[in-house]
Amino acid sequence: MNISVITLFPQIIESYFDCSIMKRAVDKGLISYRAVDLKPFADGQYHHCDDYPYGGGAGLVMKPEPFERAILSVRENPTARIIYPTPSGKPLDHATAVELAGSDELIFLCGRYEGIDQRIIDLYVTDEISIGDYVISSGEIASLVIIDALYRHIDGVISKESLEEESFAGCRLLEYPQYTRPEVFGGLRVPEVLLSGNHAEIAKWRMQKRIEKTLKNRPELIEKN
Ligand code: ADE
Repeated sequence: MNISVITLFPQIIESYFDCSIMKRAVDKGLISYRAVDLKPFADGQYHHCDDYPYGGGAGLVMKPEPFERAILSVRENPTARIIYPTPSGKPLDHATAVELAGSDELIFLCGRYEGIDQRIIDLYVTDEISIGDYVISSGEIASLVIIDALYRHIDGVISKESLEEESFAGCRLLEYPQYTRPEVFGGLRVPEVLLSGNHAEIAKWRMQKRIEKTLKNRPELIEKN
């Protein structure tokens, strides 16, 4: 998969792609990426990427021309998905992440301020996605949340077993609690069953904990099952 992120702050994107599991996926050739600096695509001596909103109102709007030029310079395929993270988009969920992971080319547009001129959305954007019912100031962080949720579903990035046991995969129960050494920490002992070596009992205990946690934190998921 090829991922391009068009942004005023390419360094935020680069530092993410250069760490941990994502770095491994890039090194293995499963993902290639470009952090595309928007500013050189803007006109004038100062390469302004924003301007006042028509009709008045607070804040600034990101201009359409730099985004159009940047999109046309990176897009390799007319079928590329062009994603605009915005609080007014469709909520991101597991199914969307899995579906996007099947694409060959994704282009993310990072907004700041009051967002991007609507004509870029009308002309180019295929998916408007929200990461939740709150507003953050950085379209880069929202893009990275979406990228992190999807790239783990690309074949070869992480093991099938890890994916299957996660919350929202399969039966939509939250994950069971995990423990590692030491056996006692802060006066709390690792549950005895996990030390027993009895795999059937461990599986039963874990399922029980998944149900308890879901009822406590997300009861509506049980109702949806
Ligand atoms: N940009 C700012 N807030 C956002 C949100 N909640 N989802 C996606 N993009 C955003």
